[in-house]
Amino acid sequence: MERGHGASAPLAGQVAIVTGAGRGIGRAIAERFGAEGAAVVLASRTAADLDRVAKGIERAVVVPTDVADDAAVERLVARALERLGRVDILVTAAGVAAFGPVAQQTPRDWDSMLAVNLRGAMVCCRAVLPPMLAQRRGTIINVASIAASRPIAGAAAYTVTKAGIVGFSRVLAEELRAGGVRVGVLVPGAVDTPLWDTIPGGPDRARMLRPEDVARAAVLMATLPPGATLEELTLLPAGGIL
Ligand SMILES: NC(=O)c1ccc[n+]([C@@H]2O[C@H](COP(=O)([O-])OP(=O)(O)OC[C@H]3O[C@@H](n4cnc5c(N)ncnc54)[C@H](OP(=O)(O)O)[C@@H]3O)[C@@H](O)[C@H]2O)c1
Repeated sequence: MERGHGASAPLAGQVAIVTGAGRGIGRAIAERFGAEGAAVVLASRTAADLDRVAKGIERAVVVPTDVADDAAVERLVARALERLGRVDILVTAAGVAAFGPVAQQTPRDWDSMLAVNLRGAMVCCRAVLPPMLAQRRGTIINVASIAASRPIAGAAAYTVTKAGIVGFSRVLAEELRAGGVRVGVLVPGAVDTPLWDTIPGGPDRARMLRPEDVARAAVLMATLPPGATLEELTLLPAGGIL
């Protein structure tokens, strides 16, 4: 849904960094934030995806970034400040998933999920703190998963990353409370995105959430008045978690 971009738009004048903005949930959040008036910094590894997404957003800056690379994340935030002057919102939607029983996996199979979903998100959060604390204002939204709280066979390492980011977010929220920066986790059930393309035998995609549903929840978290903070929002397909 297109919205007016005037000064009255809910996110007018705000700058959002969205990781994983090339596809799926991150893309939907970036597009929705743009429609709500935000300037959006689009980050993921594939520049061509980001360029495509940028075309649909009035004020977008493309910064190809691997969130597993600490220096690249620092450059992402520096670029946002250089081009747009501030950072009001961070959404960490960059993520990878590889499923399989622990007995059939090797520790190496876990590495990319730990590096991207957990450590990468933590590094992104840390990198936006200097500008947000200087402004005494900011909203961090980490995209976790229902896997963080409900056991799904085959998703052990993925679950570690999502439970980890929930715990990290809770502590970070506490640390930043006095500084005017709020931290929340968005906890979706299954969402119909390209993430499922390479996962054999996944749930029925027609019954999953749409990425746009998750984007609406992210807008709610980002647009609450500064005196309120939505620290954990679980969004499920109405038919169940699948
Ligand atoms: N789909 C679901 O059912 C579901 C449910 C709950 C939670 N989630 C979580 O939601 C987040 C987004 O998932 P999705 O379903 O939208 O997945 P997706 O469609 O596969 O999109 C993932 C995005 O993350 C980016 N990405 C992957 N590795 C990256 C890296 N190292 N650095 C920067 N960007 C990277 C990808 O771009 P590049 O590959 O070009 O970098 C892509 O833009 C993930 O954290 C996922 O765990 C998904």
